[in-house]
Amino acid sequence: MSGKRESSSPVSSRRVRVALGERSYPIEIGVGTLDAVGPAIAAATGARRAILISVPPVARRYAARVERSLRDAGIRTKRLVVPDGERTKNLGQAAKLYDACLAAGADRSSVIVALGGGVVGDLAGFVAATLLRGIPVVQIPTSLLAMVDSSVGGKTGVNVARGKNLVGAFHQPRLVWIDAGTLGSLPPRQLAAGLAEVIKHAAIRDERLFRRLERDLDRLLALDSRILVPVLQRNCAIKAAVVSEDEREAGVRMLLNFGHTLGHAAEALKKYRGILHGEAVAMGMAFAGDLSEELGLAPSGTADRLCALLERAGLPTELPDFPRSAYLRALAVDKKKRDDHVHFVVLRAIGRAETRPLRLAEIWPSRRKLRRRGSGG
Ligand SMILES: NC(=O)c1ccc[n+]([C@@H]2O[C@H](COP(=O)([O-])OP(=O)(O)OC[C@H]3O[C@@H](n4cnc5c(N)ncnc54)[C@H](O)[C@@H]3O)[C@@H](O)[C@H]2O)c1
Ligand SMILES: [Zn+2]
Repeated sequence: MSGKRESSSPVSSRRVRVALGERSYPIEIGVGTLDAVGPAIAAATGARRAILISVPPVARRYAARVERSLRDAGIRTKRLVVPDGERTKNLGQAAKLYDACLAAGADRSSVIVALGGGVVGDLAGFVAATLLRGIPVVQIPTSLLAMVDSSVGGKTGVNVARGKNLVGAFHQPRLVWIDAGTLGSLPPRQLAAGLAEVIKHAAIRDERLFRRLERDLDRLLALDSRILVPVLQRNCAIKAAVVSEDEREAGVRMLLNFGHTLGHAAEALKKYRGILHGEAVAMGMAFAGDLSEELGLAPSGTADRLCALLERAGLPTELPDFPRSAYLRALAVDKKKRDDHVHFVVLRAIGRAETRPLRLAEIWPSRRKLRRRGSGG
């Protein structure tokens, strides 16, 4: 175990199962467990060869431990490191990885191991989904966002010139291995961004988790594993349940888009610069909370409670300052738009969400001003 912010008291590992028939898989959550991943990968895949894909800040700290454990489990491992950052999630990088995997002798009985945040998970998952028409992948997420969101559910993909995540495949992992100890080196701003998805899960599905976050947020921010591990487990269970019910995003999985309609618009308007996805989602959730109250769908006070928690987590709740017309244009190109309606996720209460088909003019009536929180607006 490393990382000053960790508690030294032992915390038992937890497991969540993603139930998808033959494609079911476990999510193993523990602290300091990277050194034990090898036998678990051997058991989950039977692979004799692994291709470990990572980025420099993560590989430098953690790849050797994973490799040692794989080697001890009798699995030969090749490490491939791609540049850090969202821009690495592209088809050119995927092509380089295909080539390097094949050069390393990858075949259908090999496993790709994704070690890193959501960028590595999506890119390595996409390569695994498509190389040789699909080889097994194991996800070892090291960012909070990847642990509670992107590593679970089987969505993989890359960005293309026309937009983010427009090319991809559903490819479920064989195993998700979460070592919460790796969060000790995650930059605080990235930790907060991941918390946005944690708060989202609580807001749409689990009032009890929301109350727990309100009570224990400070200990969570300090990475106290007695709080962290059960919170990770609960979040993975929520994501797993939604995915099991609706693997291909036809129904209930859409609730996971809470905060994402305006969040995506804000990211696009900012040209993805100076704003993290989780921060945009926090802004979008604040907007959606306000709108839920204005439409008479959620009791008053719902949005304030949501925003108070977001702000304590260090997240922004005000959308970037662009004109309404710019937001409407951005919303109109959202790929989740059907006809002239957007399937907008609203809250009925903290812990309960539903989708509503809303017209753009209902989402953002011309009289609506951007709420300026804390300045009385
Ligand atoms: N597949 C899905 O269902 C899904 C869901 C949500 C998001 N995503 C995708 O996930 C991506 C965002 O993921 P992210 O927020 O993890 O970004 P990221 O992968 O870029 O990670 C954020 C930063 O933290 C660093 N990092 C990660 N773990 C670290 C650690 N333990 N110590 C030190 N540094 C560490 C990374 O190297 C990077 O610099 C986006 O591309 C998004 O589209 C996918
Ligand atoms: Zn998200």
